[in-house]
Amino acid sequence: AARVPFVVANWKINKLQADVMAFLNEVNDKVPDQKVVETGIAAQDLFLADMVRATEKSPIHVVAENVHWEDSGAYTGETSPKALKDIGAKYVLIGHFERRKFFNETDSTVNLKVTAALRNGLRPIIDVDEDMSTYAQFMDAEPSVAQVAAALAGVSVDQIRNVTLAYEPTWAIGSGEAASADQAQKAAHLIRQTLAKLYSPVIAEQVRILYGGSVTPANAREIMLQEDIDGVLVGTAALDPQKFLELVAIAH
Ligand code: G3H
Repeated sequence: AARVPFVVANWKINKLQADVMAFLNEVNDKVPDQKVVETGIAAQDLFLADMVRATEKSPIHVVAENVHWEDSGAYTGETSPKALKDIGAKYVLIGHFERRKFFNETDSTVNLKVTAALRNGLRPIIDVDEDMSTYAQFMDAEPSVAQVAAALAGVSVDQIRNVTLAYEPTWAIGSGEAASADQAQKAAHLIRQTLAKLYSPVIAEQVRILYGGSVTPANAREIMLQEDIDGVLVGTAALDPQKFLELVAIAH
């Protein structure tokens, strides 16, 4: 497929400054060219500018974990998408389950953030979780089609190429229990079908879809072999530089 695999680490609010630099020193020159596999690391805003400098000669992209929807103004404590672009961040996670759960993120704020990121030249990685209306137990969890559609409202055909979607079943996040490769494929396929309806089948084939939730070097291979899965979004395992490198190696 023409879609380049994408491995994204999400450090959340783990790691202190010294650990961030030690990690980058260890992995910087061991990551392959972006044309082979793209790599990104999401970290707290306060580390991002240093990370951009530390990865200047490395293919690793710096990823923000959240962004505000206004470019500037009186929004104490928020981060401007314009400022993120200005310091050299490439991607931004939007709508992570933890933000929906603990910080009142809604489909409508997710959409505002997605369009703000795109108009500033940042590439959104949009998190999608289950459709709770059909959710009985995790065996039959399905991604929420409504979440996908709401997140992408107003995103043009040209802009959608710069969007990555990530399916993260809520029960799999940090639980040690990943979705099976089959479940992950079904979910990614449903998201791709949704993109085909919203845009076109051709465009749907160009958009990357990641799986996230308890991914490790032990389960990543089978998950990444699935037709509609183009990479992984990894929390816990990606805190470890060797595991991160193993995941990148598995991706290509
Ligand atoms: O964004 C990453 C996910 O929340 C997955 O976290 O790999 O620790 O389950 P995890």
